[in-house]
Amino acid sequence: MLIRIRKNWEIPEREATPQDIFYSRRSILKNLGYSGALLTSSIIPHYGMKSGVANASYREGTKFYPVPRNSKYKIDRPITPEEIATKYNNYYEFGSHKKIWPLAQKLTVHPWQILINGLVEKEKLLDVDDLIRMMPLEERLYRHRCVERWSIAIPYSGFPLRNLLDYAAPLGSAKYLIMESFMNLDLALGQRQFWYPWPYLEGLAIDEAAHDLAFIATGYYGKPIPKQNGAPLRLAVPWKYGFKHIKAITKFTFSAERPISFWESIAGNEYGFWANVAGAVPHARWSQSTEEFLGPNGKEIRTTKLYNGYAEFVSGLYRGRESESLFK
Ligand code: MTE
Repeated sequence: MLIRIRKNWEIPEREATPQDIFYSRRSILKNLGYSGALLTSSIIPHYGMKSGVANASYREGTKFYPVPRNSKYKIDRPITPEEIATKYNNYYEFGSHKKIWPLAQKLTVHPWQILINGLVEKEKLLDVDDLIRMMPLEERLYRHRCVERWSIAIPYSGFPLRNLLDYAAPLGSAKYLIMESFMNLDLALGQRQFWYPWPYLEGLAIDEAAHDLAFIATGYYGKPIPKQNGAPLRLAVPWKYGFKHIKAITKFTFSAERPISFWESIAGNEYGFWANVAGAVPHARWSQSTEEFLGPNGKEIRTTKLYNGYAEFVSGLYRGRESESLFK
């Protein structure tokens, strides 16, 4: 087989974190207004998928694609075959293995509502297609490096996250952008694993979110992004490890406080907030010096590049932040 399923990198939170810390982290999240895993689907707020509305077909999203490629974003390797990028995935809502793509088809992604709230001039609730219609769509070739060491190179379609920031109009006091995925215990059986701090949550510092490379992907290989890859919209921040690339975003919250992201709350010593790629900084359980690129010629071992090859563009973001753990 082309792809070897690697040793699982997640550990149950109850093993990773003493129970008192586990529960106090959960209460911090709740105090910040995030719904937790112990909530039942009946009391989940109505953004994300609209309950009771039939799933419109995949064709629904095709009206937007393909879009022109922006040649400014170059990659140093061939594009990963679509068959690999769409059939070898991480999406814990549907299971902790790589073959979740058939299970992810259960997700209803049209219509899909997005809430923009927190430290903004005015809270907004809108449908993803209305958001896409407002945004300047383009295609970009990006490298993607998972913390597990596998990597791919993919054509995303979508829009710069900065344009969403402009639309959201955050207040000056907003220092972080928090993104939250959907919650649905009926469709995503992985969410019944109550020891995970659902919903999946990630965050960026505001200056990272405003960076030219931070992208919201709504398309993949010139078509609407498949469900298993994060439909209807996901984050792409190619200088960071893959777990920052939150899929199926339902909520953008602007905050003065740094959030504790999903994996960070499970094992903060292994998965930090910044999570920038660096071969010289090993993961707690394995080396990051090389990666396994999944390309058209099978698996190739390549040397990991600082910031996944984007150092010249992003290293300036971290001046003044050197005292923090920037590379895990
Ligand atoms: N987003 C959600 N909601 N749930 C997840 O489990 N996994 C992350 C990220 N986004 C994840 C997620 C991880 S660990 C990786 S490496 C990438 O998605 C994988 O993206 P891909 O499957 O599209 O290649």
